[in-house]
Amino acid sequence: MYEIITHSEAETISFGARLAGLLKAGDVLVLEGDLGAGKTTLTKGLAQGLGVTRTVNSPTFTIIKEYQGRLPLYHMDVYRIDEDEELGFEEYFQGDGVTVVEWGSRIAALLPEERLRISMERLGERERRIRLVPEGGRFVELCKELRK
Ligand SMILES: Nc1ncnc2c1ncn2[C@@H]1O[C@H](COP(=O)(O)OP(=O)(O)O)[C@@H](O)[C@H]1O
Ligand SMILES: [Mg+2]
Repeated sequence: MYEIITHSEAETISFGARLAGLLKAGDVLVLEGDLGAGKTTLTKGLAQGLGVTRTVNSPTFTIIKEYQGRLPLYHMDVYRIDEDEELGFEEYFQGDGVTVVEWGSRIAALLPEERLRISMERLGERERRIRLVPEGGRFVELCKELRK
């Protein structure tokens, strides 16, 4: 487990950028938290850290957006999909990029066993608690790395 409290949008973005530096192809990050918790904001930071130059927006209506960076970033928001809608997620998860899934618990059965769960909570106007829960050995190591 790793926990950080941020006090501004910018701090969440810079944490995302730092986290991105530890990611590799095939990594899957599952973001949880209410609307406005900061899931998309954190993803903007991840994108920055992956060297994505295009602007990252919420993929709510498109479900999946792809960005080119040091590694490709696949950004999904599955808030509106049906449990058993087949969108070929597995190909992204096993692919050559990093996948970030907002509301990923909605497709829990489709997610790889090894994944990094990130839950975000709004503590105040600008305060957010970000908790990283590793699922799989690789992410235990990653959390250790973040603590250094
Ligand atoms: N510490 C913070 N971290 C992230 N976002 C913050 C923070 N403080 C305020 N905000 C604001 O909260 C909102 C988060 O929105 P967004 O990232 O779209 O959330 P979600 O994707 O979880 O619905 C943005 O308007 C952002 O400016
Ligand atoms: Mg969002």
